[in-house]
Amino acid sequence: MGRDERDRRSLELGGVRFIGGETAALNFRKDVLAGLSRPQKSLPPKYFYDAAGSRLFERICRLREYYPTRTELSVTKKNLRAIARFAGKGCALLEYGSGESLKTRLLIRALRPSVYMPVDISAAALRAAAKRLVRDFPGLGVVAITADFSQPLAIPAYRGAARRVVYFPGSTIGNLTHEEAHAFLKMTRGQVGPRGAMLVGVDLKKDANVLHAAYNDAQGVTAAFNLNLLARINRELGGDFSLRRFAHYAFYNPLGGRIEMHLVARDAHRANIGNYRFSFDRGESIHTENSYKYSVPEFERLATSAGFEPAKCWTDPRGWFGLFGLLAA
Ligand code: AVJ
Repeated sequence: MGRDERDRRSLELGGVRFIGGETAALNFRKDVLAGLSRPQKSLPPKYFYDAAGSRLFERICRLREYYPTRTELSVTKKNLRAIARFAGKGCALLEYGSGESLKTRLLIRALRPSVYMPVDISAAALRAAAKRLVRDFPGLGVVAITADFSQPLAIPAYRGAARRVVYFPGSTIGNLTHEEAHAFLKMTRGQVGPRGAMLVGVDLKKDANVLHAAYNDAQGVTAAFNLNLLARINRELGGDFSLRRFAHYAFYNPLGGRIEMHLVARDAHRANIGNYRFSFDRGESIHTENSYKYSVPEFERLATSAGFEPAKCWTDPRGWFGLFGLLAA
């Protein structure tokens, strides 16, 4: 019995299969030490999502000011039939950074994929989501992959599926620079193969005041989300960061076309991670996130340069969020 055959058997039972796991923890330490050693200190935003961070992000998604989640959901709902037609019957649906997966449920119901493969860096979030999915969709094959999807990833073969469709919602692609996004789309193009497709949610360029409010909510949930990165370093790496000594700072950089999030030191001080010591000047920042915004033609050019044909763009009446349907070109 070949590997494909084994995969199919376990999937046909309608259970969850878990793949991958432990390497993510080791990289956290390495990436944190490297990021804090740069002249402009920085931390990768993918590490926001431990259990506490994932909960805070779910609260962000429900904030009045944070329009992307709500807007993407309404765009998806409105165009569900067209999206299903675009994906085709019985595809292998891969989702990168699945998280809470409310939109996923809609999509699974409409697309009826032969297999659903969520890929997420957070093993805990993935486990919980996968369990709920198999309970709610009996008979659906789920292969849950704990992995950092920004790294090359071999997708398990599944012969029963018509074609591979990668679903990359939530404007997560906004965390990547244009160069990284190009490389990422090219890698995905390789993964889905010549008949494959991709559905990408992209936050679009708009009034900077709307953007500013979305990342500076009145309740301070985004601030808590940002600061949790330091709390996580304290918890997992034995750091001694004082969260009171840092302020959340987020702004739209119109030249870069991106929101930047920073943690700014309120005074000159030092913090330790084990034997490593880091000094902060008053006003010095740790750059924690970029969230790039695209115009429709900008994103279409990017997709084209990575080997996709930008076939569809579903958007809301205000043009705040785009769900792009890309075909392997
Ligand atoms: C997960 C990258 C889409 O940039 O809007 C929300 C994360 N950061 N508030 C975004 C986030 C602060 C989010 N993405």
